[in-house]
Amino acid sequence: MRIAEGTAQLNTGALIPLIGLGTATRNLNDEEIKAAMTTALQVGYRHFDTASYYGTEHALGEALNSAFRSGIVNREDVFVTSKLGNTEHDDPIAAIKNSLKSLQLEYVDLYLIHWPVKMRTRILFSQPKEEDFLPLNIKSTWQGMEQCMETGLTKAIGVSNFSSKKIEDLLSYAKIPPAVDQVEMHPLWQQKKLRECCSKHNIHVSAWSPLGAPNNPWGSNVVIDNPLIQEIAEKHGKTRAQVILRWGVEQGVSVLPKSFNAGRIAENFQIFDWSLTLDDHDKISKLKQGKISTGQKFVNSTTSPYKTVEELWDGEI
Ligand SMILES: NC(=O)c1ccc[n+]([C@@H]2O[C@H](COP(=O)([O-])OP(=O)(O)OC[C@H]3O[C@@H](n4cnc5c(N)ncnc54)[C@H](OP(=O)(O)O)[C@@H]3O)[C@@H](O)[C@H]2O)c1
Repeated sequence: MRIAEGTAQLNTGALIPLIGLGTATRNLNDEEIKAAMTTALQVGYRHFDTASYYGTEHALGEALNSAFRSGIVNREDVFVTSKLGNTEHDDPIAAIKNSLKSLQLEYVDLYLIHWPVKMRTRILFSQPKEEDFLPLNIKSTWQGMEQCMETGLTKAIGVSNFSSKKIEDLLSYAKIPPAVDQVEMHPLWQQKKLRECCSKHNIHVSAWSPLGAPNNPWGSNVVIDNPLIQEIAEKHGKTRAQVILRWGVEQGVSVLPKSFNAGRIAENFQIFDWSLTLDDHDKISKLKQGKISTGQKFVNSTTSPYKTVEELWDGEI
């Protein structure tokens, strides 16, 4: 089968568009978010990444449903991802039903375990306290995820922020293998080891913070301000963001840049009618590596399953 341009095929057979709109934001204004999603649909985005914790499911659902009603797109033309929050591990079926209600959809295309962390308290951006952590049992969470797929509430299931070791552990008991691992990835954190593991097991990788999350408290400007990226952008007459995103899709991963700015939403989508050279790839592959978002907040020496960030990422940091 010929794979449509700008897509990758998941191990379920479904196609995932290689560019998706990220929707994590600290500034929750439903009207602004809905306007950004509508702009993205008009520009041509057909892949949207949300999560129960982002607070953007409702606005995304509004934008999608009004696009369905006005005939801009049909439900089967869009790929929607949502995620099981850290407080939702006990009942993935109930959690996905809540997400679907907010999204006003009958199914999502992909449902991910957001983090390999189980908590008592719903926390996204702040620092959890010791009493917020609960013992983690990924095997039982995954059984709930499998039920979400078996009941048709999602077309595919996967994980996020899983190391190669966590993927291998999951595969040792999964009835349904994960279709996707969504992780931080950009030219300064290329995830070579994890991508080899995922490729071996036919698991697609999606890149979060594909631009390094510039101007965000959890991110940095080091990727977008990298001198090599600047040099390559000038050579091709492209923006730095376009070079970074093009690099991602040429690695075969899907990239999920977040922008709620109409100009940057359009800019980020213009990455399919040109390409990087082998020399560009060679130079980018030699960039010094450093993870930006370490997940330090999920680490403590008493109640977290992870006493150090090395344990959280099983040494892949
Ligand atoms: N699974 C996970 O644990 C996880 C973690 C983090 C993120 N994610 C997902 O991945 C998505 C993207 O990650 P992210 O939001 O952390 O980082 P990102 O997409 O790398 O960066 C977003 C930031 O870049 C700015 N930006 C966007 N396009 C730009 C351009 N062309 N030039 C300059 N600046 C630009 C945006 O500002 P404007 O909006 O003002 O354009 C925003 O502040 C999230 O929204 C979320 O859906 C998942």
